[in-house]
Amino acid sequence: MSDGNTALDVYLTGLRNQHLVETQAIGTLQNEMSYTTDYPELHARMQADKDRSTAQAGRLEDLLARHGSSKSYVKEAVGGAVATVAGFAHAGSDDDVLKNVLAAIGYKAYEIGSYKALVVLAEAAGAADDRTVLEQSMREEEEMGDWLGENLPNLVNTYLRKRAA
Ligand SMILES: [Fe+2]
Repeated sequence: MSDGNTALDVYLTGLRNQHLVETQAIGTLQNEMSYTTDYPELHARMQADKDRSTAQAGRLEDLLARHGSSKSYVKEAVGGAVATVAGFAHAGSDDDVLKNVLAAIGYKAYEIGSYKALVVLAEAAGAADDRTVLEQSMREEEEMGDWLGENLPNLVNTYLRKRAA
């Protein structure tokens, strides 16, 4: 990495930022899952999302390694994008299920946008081969985002019933 201004540098920074986002997502999901045991479907989805986030983080590590960036460097990296999602991640310390679901919808929208941007950056950096892997992760984020959006009315109703009980 030279002056930090080449398309490849921007792309690699983007990969590192998204790696941190995935890492935070794993921690947030782990924490929130303890509050959702009485929402079985949501709980199962969160477990699947956590497994996928782990796989996604691994894919990002592989891409970084492909472009000569070591894993230890990945773990130290902190970028501006992370500060943006930190607000979402903090929702994980709250046991209010509804609030956490709304935060998760925002988090997924961020991740979809992030992978979409990475696809463009990969091509600009001459790494078009990375596209397939990035799009796979993007589709997974879309799937979870769609599920959350579609199931929000049900989750709100369940939430109300439980509060009234
Ligand atoms: Fe993810």
